[in-house]
Amino acid sequence: MNKFIILIAFACLGVSCGTTSNDSNPIYKDANQPVEKRVGDLVSRMTLEEKILQINQYTLGRNFNENNVEDEVVALPSEIGSVIYFNNDSKRRNELQKKAMEKSRLGIPVIFGFDVIHGFRTVYQISLGQACSWNTDLVKRACAVAAKEARVSGVDWTFSPMVDVARDGRWGRVSEGYGEDVYTNSAFSVAAVQGYQGDDNTLTDENHIAACLKHYVGYGASEGGRDYAYTEISNQTLWDTYLPPFEAGVKAGAATLMTSFNDISGTPSTANHYVLAEILREKWKHDGFVVSDWSAIEQLVTQGMAADRKDAGKLAFNAGVDMDMTDKVYSKYMAELVEEGKVKEVDIDESVRRILRIKFRLGLFENPYTPEKPENERLLLPEYVKVAEKIAAESFVLLKNENNTLPLTGSKKIALVGPMADNKEHLLGNWYAHGRAQDVTSIYEGFVNEFGKDAVNIVRGCDFEGDDKSGFAKAISAAKNSDVVVVCLGEKRKWSGENCSRSTIVLPEIQEKFLAELKKAGKPIVLILSSGRPLELCNMEPLADAIMEIWQPGVGGANPLAQMVAGKINPSGKLSITFPYSSGQIPIYYNMRSRARRAQGKYQNIPTEPLYEFAHGLSYTTYEYGELKLSAEKVAREGKLSAEITVKNVGDMDGLETVHWFISDPSSSITRPVKELKYFDKQLIKAGKSKTFRFDIDLDRDFSFVDSTGEKLLENGDFYVMVKDQKVKVVLE
Ligand code: GLC
Repeated sequence: MNKFIILIAFACLGVSCGTTSNDSNPIYKDANQPVEKRVGDLVSRMTLEEKILQINQYTLGRNFNENNVEDEVVALPSEIGSVIYFNNDSKRRNELQKKAMEKSRLGIPVIFGFDVIHGFRTVYQISLGQACSWNTDLVKRACAVAAKEARVSGVDWTFSPMVDVARDGRWGRVSEGYGEDVYTNSAFSVAAVQGYQGDDNTLTDENHIAACLKHYVGYGASEGGRDYAYTEISNQTLWDTYLPPFEAGVKAGAATLMTSFNDISGTPSTANHYVLAEILREKWKHDGFVVSDWSAIEQLVTQGMAADRKDAGKLAFNAGVDMDMTDKVYSKYMAELVEEGKVKEVDIDESVRRILRIKFRLGLFENPYTPEKPENERLLLPEYVKVAEKIAAESFVLLKNENNTLPLTGSKKIALVGPMADNKEHLLGNWYAHGRAQDVTSIYEGFVNEFGKDAVNIVRGCDFEGDDKSGFAKAISAAKNSDVVVVCLGEKRKWSGENCSRSTIVLPEIQEKFLAELKKAGKPIVLILSSGRPLELCNMEPLADAIMEIWQPGVGGANPLAQMVAGKINPSGKLSITFPYSSGQIPIYYNMRSRARRAQGKYQNIPTEPLYEFAHGLSYTTYEYGELKLSAEKVAREGKLSAEITVKNVGDMDGLETVHWFISDPSSSITRPVKELKYFDKQLIKAGKSKTFRFDIDLDRDFSFVDSTGEKLLENGDFYVMVKDQKVKVVLE
């Protein structure tokens, strides 16, 4: 049968080449058609060249990411799949989108991504601090604020949440995740996805954006805390530590994932078929798409896996990376790879389907443009700043409070000293997106707002680093002429985040010396720390009567901090990551496996216990924990089990208290951590009142563990349910 007849045959059948009886209104442009039908119709119409451009992401706007410098891309093809969008309004976006919708053959909209990590313009607390709030609803609200600001400013897709379990504070990116614990990262992964995408993942409205779980997977295990480094991760550890927060986010409907830079025991994530295809696609059935991290594909050459860029493109694509972030490997080599049979076009079709599916779900075909509104109608709105203040207040952790130094009651003359006292920029933290230092209330401004200008004598006294002590004397004089010294120390914002590895988590010596000199003034010392990581405080701790970790709270931290110091807000934050006694203990985290000899194997020269453990955090009030009670001493595998504990606030100040519920499985076919967090619950307990906290245990979810293939195992035997220092046994039979 000759070609002509074949064409007629297809035409009659109206099949396969995407034509329909009415081509002026093709299926993919019909919003009443189901997404899958529109996707299929559109892919069938695309040329290979158009498909290849969809699996590429370039940049648009002045790239201000100091770790990923590149020449600004000026000539953008109208068929490009995506850009990282660096502008903070939708004008330039709409110009490119108009080109895509009107100049390209099929009018496929571009998807605009950006790093909206902890706020777009209203920058709020860093994720490590957010987790210390133990308030998933609040984190969801904060992400929803970020989503609104981003979407209305031309961004459809955020490269967030980062849900890398991280236990090494030397790694700068510990600031971007939700701490050391698996369950914590999983819980906040879900909260963030829901905040960005909406509870039912309705991505089409102007209040939501597509989320991106990153960095998939195991990046937090970077050797020595050195960024971009090798990670030695067994499949057992992959499954029981690093994968769960991603699985939780995928189940919550996360639209996309981003591959991580690290080499997973010889197979870098970006070329790792096991995690990208076998787990993410085949096991978890994820139907969104995967984008590589910046240049992660061509970095396969540096990592010793790919022979050259083209080989890297083949390896990454065939492993399961759908979209190439900025290194232009796919746009340059994919056609050749198909020609040479090294990549199948049907696989490219599948990647294009995944990308188009998210674009349809975002409603970009119907609403490709973003209304252009003035800044004051869309950014830094008062209600947004209120959310930033609330999450800041609930994330501050009172680490120490000797003799009830805090709160400061009665009129006090305050010496407010230290380099963080009037700094704005560093409170923004890393990945501050379009945040601006001028938007930030400084600690000094917060204290003046709360205590009045006359009560607050500010003297910086020293810098964050260096050896200039010339300002010490003036600070010490201010301290001597005060009732209390509030010392504001910590990290510059560029000391944590990407490419910010530090060999030690101690603050620079000048800050320790400054505190030691201030101590000699003989006044109570309140130490306020702002940092993007846990800190080594063994030298500072003895010098301070009270210590408060505020992390990097963004625009709205200072007022709630001052109100907290004044006793108007009761601290409720608890650590999401262990504070080691010193850097030499790293890695140290609560849910380690037991040493073979618990009384031995300790350090000879320093304590073996951390300075402040996971979930540590003080309040101005006192909570008395009643007896931990289980609903049964024995339970069958299909049975039900619940645990309860009553907590009484015996102080005279209302407070928010979080109860952390742990499980221990002391003997199992694969050793388990000494205890594992399985639930947390935060409740307001009024002064003098009690609240009962309840944990409805799901045996399969909470008592099981995974093996190295990801299979769940639930083994009979003894288990313990634990709250604080109580542990109650239950036998599973
Ligand atoms: C960076 C980061 C990643 C970020 C991406 C885009 O290198 O690793 O977290 O989302 O590039 O900026």
